[in-house]
Amino acid sequence: MINCPKCGEENPPKFRLCGYCGAPLAAPLPSREVRKTVTLIFSDLKDSTALGERLDAEALHEVKDRYFNAMAAEITRHGGKIEKYIGDAIMAVFGLPRAHEDDALRAIRAAAGMRSALARVNQDLIAHYGMALAHRTGVNTGEVVANDDPGADQKIATGDAVNVAARLEQAAPADEIYLGETTYRLVRNAVEVEAVEPLQVKGKSEKIAAYRLVSARGLDGYARRQDAPVIGRDAELGALRAAFREVDEQRAVRLVTLVGDAGMGKSRLAREVIEQLAGAAGVLRGRCLPYGDGITFWPLVGMVWEAAGIRDDDSPELARSKLLATTIDADVAARLAGAVGLSTAVYPLHELFWAVRRFLEGQAVDAPLVVLIDDLHWAEPAFLDLIEHILDTSQDAPILLLATARDELFERQPQWCESRAAATRMALHPLSDDAAAQVIANLLGAADLPSDVMARIVRAAEGNPLYVEQMLSMLIDGNALRLEAGHWVRTEAYGEIMVPPTIQALLEARLDSLSRADREAVEPASVIGLEFPRPAVEALVPATVRTAIGEHLGR
Ligand SMILES: Nc1ncnc2c1ncn2[C@@H]1O[C@H](COP(=O)(O)OP(=O)(O)OP(=O)(O)O)[C@@H](O)[C@H]1O
Ligand SMILES: [Mg+2]
Repeated sequence: MINCPKCGEENPPKFRLCGYCGAPLAAPLPSREVRKTVTLIFSDLKDSTALGERLDAEALHEVKDRYFNAMAAEITRHGGKIEKYIGDAIMAVFGLPRAHEDDALRAIRAAAGMRSALARVNQDLIAHYGMALAHRTGVNTGEVVANDDPGADQKIATGDAVNVAARLEQAAPADEIYLGETTYRLVRNAVEVEAVEPLQVKGKSEKIAAYRLVSARGLDGYARRQDAPVIGRDAELGALRAAFREVDEQRAVRLVTLVGDAGMGKSRLAREVIEQLAGAAGVLRGRCLPYGDGITFWPLVGMVWEAAGIRDDDSPELARSKLLATTIDADVAARLAGAVGLSTAVYPLHELFWAVRRFLEGQAVDAPLVVLIDDLHWAEPAFLDLIEHILDTSQDAPILLLATARDELFERQPQWCESRAAATRMALHPLSDDAAAQVIANLLGAADLPSDVMARIVRAAEGNPLYVEQMLSMLIDGNALRLEAGHWVRTEAYGEIMVPPTIQALLEARLDSLSRADREAVEPASVIGLEFPRPAVEALVPATVRTAIGEHLGR
């Protein structure tokens, strides 16, 4: 695959022009070995030799074929890749060629999916052969060395991370999934686990922690604190309230897109303003998902559920009747039901757009409506079209569409809402050092932090509240900071402030979304420092990148 230098989309290796935006694709750079943080799944059939004794060769072949196909389908469905088969074991990797911030969670979902898929395969096997398969699975996150060429067969080198994944698998009982420590930290908000006896691993002096997966449900791998007060966003809050007043007074629809890096506080700010407006407005919330089947209109699910008071355990009939009671109009309800998976009816897109607009207008009759659409950078094109449709056609209805998006949205859609008077972008800038220090103080409560520790976190976080939060919790989790008699003190474990795995995953995913050539420029620059002389970077990049170095650095 070649990433387009302009829009970032992936193109097949032999394309010379980008199939998405038409920009010329640069000649591929030579491949190289890179270190990457990936999540590995190791899964092995249990007692498979006994199987061979009970089934004849053909039946055994068929059974295994069924099994491996079912496992592979789950792995690919969640964006993973089968690395290799070793006998009856499957080794899969999440994060190659491109890292995603939620690779660990994807791997967990895949592992849980594999377990359910095996149960389904077993139903058939019991019916046909009177026997069932059992497997066990290990999931581990760590650094591996891999070839950087997305077109090449990207075999990863065996190393510590792989060994630990295999060891977790061996330790797991039949049909259980064991997670390693880093994986657990990356997903702990979305899973239920049970700590098990730490494992001895060959070549490691210390035992390693292991967790048995009980269930995986949540959408977010790690929790983001919502309890501490919002700091340093008074101007933005004021502007959002003003936008709301305008919507209310003019009975018009407006879109404000909050834009900023991951963790800059977009969702938190949106939530804050919604809380402030709660008495004066109706609120509907939806979010876009990074991957999955049928995600295009997923944000509508949240809105429809909220508006109609639908609960997850409602039957489809009950949900549809609630929806009809809310929208009143049967045509609107039918189309919405199709879009949110409450019926199998399929309608043309323009009818669905019409229905969504009518639905939102209906919700804005008694009081102005605020519609939160979180993570718009993951929206499918059809959903973006829907928002523009609402902006262009809705009349005499006070609706504030409040979206949050990372900058990637504008790399993909530079013109997003650019020419519409009713649409504005609001950029969220890094917090000042003072504000970041205040965030730390609030997170810790009344207790104080040694001033040099405070200064280090503030400096390393560069105004990003999520980084502040994650670094602080890493220090506390790792026992580097401890509360003693109302004061935070450093312990012996206090050393270098490392990048927390959660932030590492965000940064790796962001870097991986760059074109290879941009990345070739970023890497030497980052080694030089936050400020770098251009000739120094020029001297360090490959010749093909040097010719267009100005463009790469500009981007
Ligand atoms: N102004 C602020 N003051 C204090 N804490 C904040 C502030 N902004 C954000 N936070 C906290 O920082 C964390 C990250 O914020 P948030 O989840 O809103 O980021 P985001 O920009 O939506 O990131 P993403 O792009 O990943 O969705 C949250 O725990 C949030 O509570
Ligand atoms: Mg967010």
